[in-house]
Amino acid sequence: MHSFVRFLAFPVLAVSLAECGLIYPAFQGTPASSADAYNFNGTTTDSNSIASTAFQIDQKSGATPHAPPNLPAVNTTITAIDGDIVNTTIPASRRSLPAEVVITKMSGRKNSDYEEVFGGTGTDPEDRDAAIIGTAYLTYTLVNNATYNVDDCFAFCDAISECVFVNLYYEFNNGMLDHVYSQESNLKCAVYGDVHSAEEKVNFGGQSLSGIPDGPLTYIQQSSGWTSKSFSSPSPPAGYDPLPNLDGANEAPGYMGFVFLNKYDVDACAAICNNQDPSDVGGSCKYFNIWRAVVDGVPTTYTCALYYIPADPSTAINYGQGSLSVTQSRGYKRITYVLDGGFEDYSCGGLSFCYTNEVEGWLTSSPEDGDYDASIFHYQPYSHSGDSVALLGSATGHDDYSGTLTYASSLSTEPGVEYVVEFFHSSFYSGSAEKDAFVEVYWNGVLVGTIHPGYSLWKYYKFVVIAQGNDKLDFRGGRAPSFDFLDDIFVMRA
Ligand SMILES: *[C@@H]1O[C@H](CO)[C@@H](O)[C@H](O)[C@H]1NC(C)=O
Ligand SMILES: *[C@@H]1O[C@H](CO)[C@@H](O)[C@H](O)[C@H]1NC(C)=O
Ligand SMILES: *[C@@H]1O[C@H](CO)[C@@H](O)[C@H](O)[C@H]1NC(C)=O
Ligand SMILES: *[C@@H]1O[C@H](CO)[C@@H](O)[C@H](O)[C@H]1NC(C)=O
Repeated sequence: MHSFVRFLAFPVLAVSLAECGLIYPAFQGTPASSADAYNFNGTTTDSNSIASTAFQIDQKSGATPHAPPNLPAVNTTITAIDGDIVNTTIPASRRSLPAEVVITKMSGRKNSDYEEVFGGTGTDPEDRDAAIIGTAYLTYTLVNNATYNVDDCFAFCDAISECVFVNLYYEFNNGMLDHVYSQESNLKCAVYGDVHSAEEKVNFGGQSLSGIPDGPLTYIQQSSGWTSKSFSSPSPPAGYDPLPNLDGANEAPGYMGFVFLNKYDVDACAAICNNQDPSDVGGSCKYFNIWRAVVDGVPTTYTCALYYIPADPSTAINYGQGSLSVTQSRGYKRITYVLDGGFEDYSCGGLSFCYTNEVEGWLTSSPEDGDYDASIFHYQPYSHSGDSVALLGSATGHDDYSGTLTYASSLSTEPGVEYVVEFFHSSFYSGSAEKDAFVEVYWNGVLVGTIHPGYSLWKYYKFVVIAQGNDKLDFRGGRAPSFDFLDDIFVMRA
């Protein structure tokens, strides 16, 4: 108890000094505490950690001789998190991939959409070949081996939305193929979510699976590879806008870390971004950069890098290092349904301080007789990021009413879908006189969240709402001399 009281002693003193001579925000008073300026230094992509993990990871596989055919395609998993090699599933709750996207990808693909990447050897008794061991292996089937049946293999690939590549080959001396599986075929069609090349033919068989003691070892013949041309165009995930294709990976500020995926899966990367714990500095993930690492010419892993500041093509300058090249780099920006939630459109034509109760995009209102109970300030010391910020509580100190800040437009949301309302808040202006600080968040006029932070430095808040479509957003709060500042307001699909 004793130490708790001592701990409080200093802030209380500082606060009473502030209270004696409180100068209201409208008169450019100095806050009782000052927060450090929003600083992104040291938050840039850790490309070295990504590269060194890419050199360690092994996520290559193929149709193992023991696996039965026609297993469901391998799910997307996380194979590394910030340099630690792991094996975890993607958060499923937010994988809101509309069904029609899958159907579009599946339908309308014709055999003519496949191109041969490499051929197999002949079938003479002495010919030997090898099957692919590569990234993004999905599953395999056995196709009728009366002919070298590429068509059935393509049809199998077509039925799997992520399939872009097939490896068709004969596997000899595997007793399961010869005697057990109902297909009675040794022609394996292994399907992948990425395209592989002949240099990845490394599975030569050589296993004892004939069922006869000291029987002949397995071997592979006529291993060919085919790709469908649709690889290059994933549909953007729900709630994201794609950037134009990037030349390299982003080296950008606001970096929140990376994961490796076992497949090039933009929906999985979006789900990870949506579920990422928010940063104290920058809030939630608002952008991801997905790319394929190719090491010595061979696809090796799929990076999903997360950012709380949307990056753009100007920082996509990491083309790789050493034997690692960055390929298939794409950026997706989380759609924000509130424009100028940082109030930066409001400025003072060169002056460092000004305030108003009329800006484009936002409405402010005070109760009758109230004066500036909600307002917008352009003044860096009051703001969280940039120079402008919203204030609830009479800026002039005229009254102790609470003001309301309303987003002027209705939000173009999708009915029934969950959205996140997030913002940064501070109530440090008048020190201990901030005891009544509060903010209420209204969604379509319904109270969805209340905070009573008392005295508080800048802090992140988030509320989840369900859209009706054309939704309305209001914030009500402040009670001078308790002042509530709001900045960096975002509404995004959850
Ligand atoms: C951030 O880094 C830049 C370049 O190194 C430097 O000029 C600037 O002062 C730094 N900003 C802060 C707030 O530390
Ligand atoms: C793949 O994901 C689905 C859906 O989340 C789940 O039902 C299934 O069990 C998973 N399969 C494997 C092999 O983990
Ligand atoms: C990852 O975990 C799954 C389920 O526990 C397992 O089937 C799979 O073999 C594991 N993969 C690796 C690469 O360890
Ligand atoms: C087809 O596969 C079966 C099962 O492995 C095998 O017994 C048969 O010889 C194969 N036929 C041809 C034409 O390769």
